[in-house]
Amino acid sequence: MLFISSLDNIHDRSRFNSGRLELDNYIKEQAGQDVRRNLSSVFVLTKDQVDVVGYYTLSQHSLMVDDFPPATGKKLPRKRKVGCTLLGRLAVDLSCQGMGYGRALLFHALKKAIAVSVEVASFAVIVDAKDEKAKLFYEKYDFLTLKDESLRLFMPIKGLARKLCKYP
Ligand SMILES: CC(C)(COP(=O)(O)OP(=O)(O)OC[C@H]1O[C@@H](n2cnc3c(N)ncnc32)[C@H](O)[C@@H]1OP(=O)(O)O)[C@@H](O)C(=O)NCCC(=O)NCCS
Repeated sequence: MLFISSLDNIHDRSRFNSGRLELDNYIKEQAGQDVRRNLSSVFVLTKDQVDVVGYYTLSQHSLMVDDFPPATGKKLPRKRKVGCTLLGRLAVDLSCQGMGYGRALLFHALKKAIAVSVEVASFAVIVDAKDEKAKLFYEKYDFLTLKDESLRLFMPIKGLARKLCKYP
């Protein structure tokens, strides 16, 4: 049985190994502090409610309208900052990759982003892919590359709920 919940002291992250050292070190050493300082929200995927086999982080962010590709920004006032939701990190333990957990975490994060945007407006979800391989994962779910930033992608919140419905 899978659980996704906010990071808590009961969660054991000591053995987490996604194959990306910076993502592993973050969940082991930094995530708890970021949560306590309100810098990031951290959600963990556990199999037994204790051992962490995946996680993602969310925080607020802002970008200039000009940062988006022209087709996305054309109806917005230029030179204006827009609020966004940053999915800064997402990782699944090597032992569990290829089992649909990355997608489950991504969709959980997108649903959270939609829910939060009802109270605090957010124009888009932004993700930072760690490399070209990770970028392909996000592109599979229709994320688009931000203008001039090859590993930073976005998904407009508008229409996102409808888009999620098309996935079983
Ligand atoms: C990228 C990552 C989160 C994917 O998690 P996962 O649990 O292995 O992925 P899933 O099993 O949920 O895959 C869901 C779908 O995405 C596809 N997919 C997974 N990784 C992919 C990739 N790198 N490129 C393209 N498609 C990918 C799967 O084939 C699957 O497609 P299907 O539903 O048509 O079969 C995971 O490989 C990981 O943690 N990698 C190391 C850290 C990392 O790069 N994080 C992301 C950027 S911060």
